[in-house]
Amino acid sequence: MEGNVVREGKTKILYKEKPGELIMEFKDSITAMNGRLKETIPGKGEVCSKITEIIFSHLEKNGVNTHFISRVSEKKLRVKELEMYPIEVVCRNIAFGSLLKRLPLRSGEELKRPVIEFYYKSDELGDPMLNEDHLAILGVSESEIKEIRGTTLKTNELLKELFRNAGLKLVDFKLEFGKYKSNILIGDEFSPDNFRAWLENRPVDKDLFRMGEGRDTVIKAYLEVLKRLEKVVN
Ligand code: TMP
Repeated sequence: MEGNVVREGKTKILYKEKPGELIMEFKDSITAMNGRLKETIPGKGEVCSKITEIIFSHLEKNGVNTHFISRVSEKKLRVKELEMYPIEVVCRNIAFGSLLKRLPLRSGEELKRPVIEFYYKSDELGDPMLNEDHLAILGVSESEIKEIRGTTLKTNELLKELFRNAGLKLVDFKLEFGKYKSNILIGDEFSPDNFRAWLENRPVDKDLFRMGEGRDTVIKAYLEVLKRLEKVVN
């Protein structure tokens, strides 16, 4: 066993293994609308853990630091224990999702430049969007914001290319960051639960679940993403 449960969220469990390290277990659950929509999809945890491993390994190989250390088993990854920032960082290449509520853009339109947004992780407050003054109140300094923005943009460039090579369009994604021995690393996961990707302009990500598609359609799409990414990194 991996010892004590440190935290259990909607789709993952974190166990403490030894000082400075955690085991991150991916569950087979999928949720949307702040947990109001919930389902179990057998195999989903394994697929999301594999996609996360591929993406984080690719980022590490290209000079972007993440918390990923190694694979433990089908659904479990060993990661560095970070002191997490209480924020979500969204990066967008295409106008879709909640951006359409903020800017007068056509759905699916390519953005002139990537758009980065910060959100406060709070179910209670409904994950509100933050500006840099809000971030300062939360204790994130200007230099930390600058570094997080830079890492997010570099991640975007690397992954846009990787996805393009895999025949996929990277629409947008969410990252989480934390500190490890005074370095800022990417934490959490990178899976179709937290990015949008289109295959011939059709979603192969959690939007399928949000749209009411059944579990077979969802897992098929996630597996398609995994198969395509495996092909381009190997
Ligand atoms: P949005 O268009 O709904 O704001 O989502 C933008 C991207 O961020 C999309 O790829 C989904 C991801 N995301 C999360 O992973 N968690 C969240 O809580 C939210 C709001 C978005």
